[in-house]
Amino acid sequence: MSEHILVDVKDKVMTITFNRPDKKNALTHAMYQAINSAIERANTDKTVRAVLFLGAGGVFTAGNDLMDFRDKPPLGPDAPVSRFLQNMLKAEKPIVAAVGGVAVGVGLTMLLHCDLVIGSKSARLSAPFVDLALVPEAGSSLLLPRTIGHALASDMFFTGRVLSAEEALAVGILSRLYEDADLEGEARKLALSLARKAPDAIRLTRRLMRGDRADVAKRMAEEGELFARQLVSKEMKEAIQAFLEKRAPDFG
Ligand code: COA
Repeated sequence: MSEHILVDVKDKVMTITFNRPDKKNALTHAMYQAINSAIERANTDKTVRAVLFLGAGGVFTAGNDLMDFRDKPPLGPDAPVSRFLQNMLKAEKPIVAAVGGVAVGVGLTMLLHCDLVIGSKSARLSAPFVDLALVPEAGSSLLLPRTIGHALASDMFFTGRVLSAEEALAVGILSRLYEDADLEGEARKLALSLARKAPDAIRLTRRLMRGDRADVAKRMAEEGELFARQLVSKEMKEAIQAFLEKRAPDFG
């Protein structure tokens, strides 16, 4: 278990906390593995009725760890990040996410698979895949335009536009907004309230709202192939080098 992922089960709520605040909770392979074990357990464990994602240190997550991407590109369906995305697609229990501070890349796209996404005023959401010479993942090339409309999704994907908390609320990524100090407490209350509701009614409602998600699964597979190709591309190497050197990339 990675020390950067905290897992706690209490009152039928499994809380998974991204706990690497010095790196803005960027997600490493080891962190994905720990999250995967937790979500897979939540699926089958009858003592878990709801899952809650939190970020430590006032940040949700800056997305994939770019050093891991550079040094150990996660290729193929068995890579920890690929398994995480599959797990999000197939999750059986309702998922609450509490977003304060930055939510970048997968930090945003994972939200499209959660059931209740709430935020605080410091939330800043972005999906700068093109800036990193990557393509959208987690089915977000389908789900983000579906949620916020094609024009705004294009703006986010192509320009790296960052949504404020108020904008994310207005366009329907977030359903509630709180003061930063209240976010965690409110998220815990919400998750607990779901854990106390009739489990079959929750499960069936989720199924009705999601359908079989075959279109999302198909898109995720297409994205995964292109994402893996871009991960080992020259333009991606330049994008990461530029991030590390705190300069603009030069794509020639
Ligand atoms: N992977 C690895 N390290 C990351 C990271 C990531 N995705 N995001 C942030 N970090 C690290 C920074 O390198 C920095 O490390 P250092 O203190 O050793 O230099 C530390 O976290 C703090 O980040 P910093 O950039 O100084 O914070 P900030 O508040 O100025 O900016 C972000 C925060 C998230 C806007 C900025 O860090 C960023 O753009 N990160 C990359 C996000 C990204 O592209 N994610 C991948 C999407 S697929």
